[in-house]
Amino acid sequence: MQPVRRTLLKLAGSASALMTLPSLSAQPAASQLLKRVIPKSGERLPVIGLGTYIVLDVAPNAPELAELKEVLTTFVAGGASVVDSSPMYGRAEAVTGDLAAATGLRDSLFLATKVWTSGREAGIRQMQDSLRLMRTRRIDLMQVHNLLDLATHLKTLREWKEAGTIRYLGITHYHSGAYRDLEKLLKTRDYDFVQFNYSMAEREAEQRLLAVAAESGTAVIINRPFAQGELFPKVKGRELPAWAADFDCDSWAQFFLKYIIAHPAVTCAIPGTGKVRQTFPLFMVKPLELICVHPRVSAVPSCFLGHFQKTNTCAAT
Ligand SMILES: NC(=O)c1ccc[n+]([C@@H]2O[C@H](COP(=O)([O-])OP(=O)(O)OC[C@H]3O[C@@H](n4cnc5c(N)ncnc54)[C@H](OP(=O)(O)O)[C@@H]3O)[C@@H](O)[C@H]2O)c1
Repeated sequence: MQPVRRTLLKLAGSASALMTLPSLSAQPAASQLLKRVIPKSGERLPVIGLGTYIVLDVAPNAPELAELKEVLTTFVAGGASVVDSSPMYGRAEAVTGDLAAATGLRDSLFLATKVWTSGREAGIRQMQDSLRLMRTRRIDLMQVHNLLDLATHLKTLREWKEAGTIRYLGITHYHSGAYRDLEKLLKTRDYDFVQFNYSMAEREAEQRLLAVAAESGTAVIINRPFAQGELFPKVKGRELPAWAADFDCDSWAQFFLKYIIAHPAVTCAIPGTGKVRQTFPLFMVKPLELICVHPRVSAVPSCFLGHFQKTNTCAAT
């Protein structure tokens, strides 16, 4: 038996693995996309969602809109529902609203966006704009983008949640430099969701933050799952390692995403893509392989992971 396979079977047999192990008969059919529980409510969310940074920031009548419509339809047909946007992403909120209306899919979506400004009144105005642009009366998740003026917005978010204008409130960041702040905030248990970066290229969240999020009962959305696309050039021209077949991975995109959502603290990863052909690999997710692919438990050779290590110096998004 191959060493990787042996490790996997040992893992799958462990008590903790079995607790999270869905039916082995589960098929990778799109409609069976794995779901994870939002700790504060018990609601279940599909583990793959759609990021909108850059990819949905297109002009009205842009030629890309036809494909973006198909991307959204494919995501929903695949069982996904979370769409994450922000007023920081140019026209992305408006395009999200337009696509939801054009496809009639609003009710199938879990709409997440952010407040990204300073001051109570400015925050309220911006969130009212988000409702209008996203063409909805209720936002599922409103997050404070990069913690900007958090104390002010938290009061408003609580009021809006009470009024039913938002369903969940949360905080986001994109860089490990903010993890200490995120950890402190999570310990207050004030937030339904936290969103931060995590990928094979940016693994710092494994040290503490993911565990702190789990302990605090906070749902976790992972941004930059492909390190804003930087993972793909690193593997350009390289075949998937033969042992990836043990995890039922047949694309690098799957490999990168399974690595992330194999972590039990992760509720949903939100890759950004505007290409239909890139959406299909995202849904070939079998629960057993999710558990097995987890390299934190040394199932993946460390030399391979080392290949992806890099300085985390991206621009704010
Ligand atoms: N502070 C924050 O709150 C914050 C910060 C960063 C991100 N976010 C959220 O997280 C989402 C995801 O992060 P991200 O968009 O920055 O980075 P990402 O999801 O890590 O990477 C997106 C890039 O990967 C490329 N890509 C996707 N699938 C691919 C595939 N199968 N093969 C090759 N390339 C592929 C996309 O290319 P194409 O453009 O060609 O499709 C896009 O350029 C954002 O869209 C946003 O919603 C939030």
